[in-house]
Amino acid sequence: MRQKCLECRYSLINEARMIFMVLLAQTVLSALGEEPPAPPQDVHLQNWLLTWTPPPEETAELTYTVQSSFHDDAWKGIDTWKDIPTCAHRSFTSCNVTLTAAESRHGCAMLRVVAERRGLTSKPALACSLRADSCTPEVSLSARPGSLTVHLSRDHRLVESHADHAGHRVYVGIEGEEVEELDSTSSLTLRQLQEGQRYCAQVGFILYNKSLGPPTCPKCELIPNKDAEMNPGVIVGAVLVLFVLIMVTMYVLIYHSGKIKRWLRLPYTIPDDFRMLQPLPIPTCSPTEEHFEEITCVTPVEGEVTS
Ligand SMILES: *[C@@H]1O[C@H](CO)[C@@H](O)[C@H](O)[C@H]1NC(C)=O
Ligand SMILES: *[C@@H]1O[C@H](CO)[C@@H](O)[C@H](O)[C@H]1NC(C)=O
Repeated sequence: MRQKCLECRYSLINEARMIFMVLLAQTVLSALGEEPPAPPQDVHLQNWLLTWTPPPEETAELTYTVQSSFHDDAWKGIDTWKDIPTCAHRSFTSCNVTLTAAESRHGCAMLRVVAERRGLTSKPALACSLRADSCTPEVSLSARPGSLTVHLSRDHRLVESHADHAGHRVYVGIEGEEVEELDSTSSLTLRQLQEGQRYCAQVGFILYNKSLGPPTCPKCELIPNKDAEMNPGVIVGAVLVLFVLIMVTMYVLIYHSGKIKRWLRLPYTIPDDFRMLQPLPIPTCSPTEEHFEEITCVTPVEGEVTS
């Protein structure tokens, strides 16, 4: 009886331990499993082919859904995103969105991608366009100490059809940090920026204050330091020094060329037999070949000297 009880107690403890381990494992797994996946990366659009890369450090099999949002001239204040049926819950990392864009009124669509794992959805990653086209503006940046100019063109079809209701939205900030949103119809210069920092900008078209198409992919420029750039005084000084140097050189060359020639003359006198020594056609006679009769190759020269 006693023996039995000891046995049963032992097995009870064992069972409890087992149950505890299973519960612990389940808690850990569910805690891990409840984390939604990280969003896809590098969501790029080129010729209406959308491509992206899986989130890093993700080992499970993911699916992706591409969502689009169209511009409908009336400003609603909220974006309405809809799944693109041909690009929903697929394991591919690319999608052809040509038809989607064609469906919209302006032929453009804002696009984003979410990653999915067992019913959990990541935060969306907004697509940017690698190329300027009718939905994405042409942008270039130029940096100067403390400032960055975003060059934009007013020469696009939106301005033709919508005049002042069309513009650009510029997203700008230090690389990897929070961005600031600025609306502008023409090129703009940002001042009082931190020197020695890289600033990045993305630009998209807006119509009636609402994004029309994907913004450009980020372009970055390093804001140079003021010290690195020459100030006008230094430039004038350098030009003056150069001018004086040129004048001195010209004076010396013109009035003292004789002296210079004398200075440059080497202490060397031409030997009397110089003319005989001069045309030594060494390359035509191989020194490794010990055929002395091959001296004939210098014969024409000797003939010239003696004649
Ligand atoms: C995308 O689809 C359109 C129309 O279905 C087609 O014309 C185009 O060639 C496709 N593009 C790519 C990159 O597959
Ligand atoms: C335009 O859009 C921006 C950001 O989406 C918002 O902050 C701003 O209030 C809007 N302006 C108008 C006039 O609707």
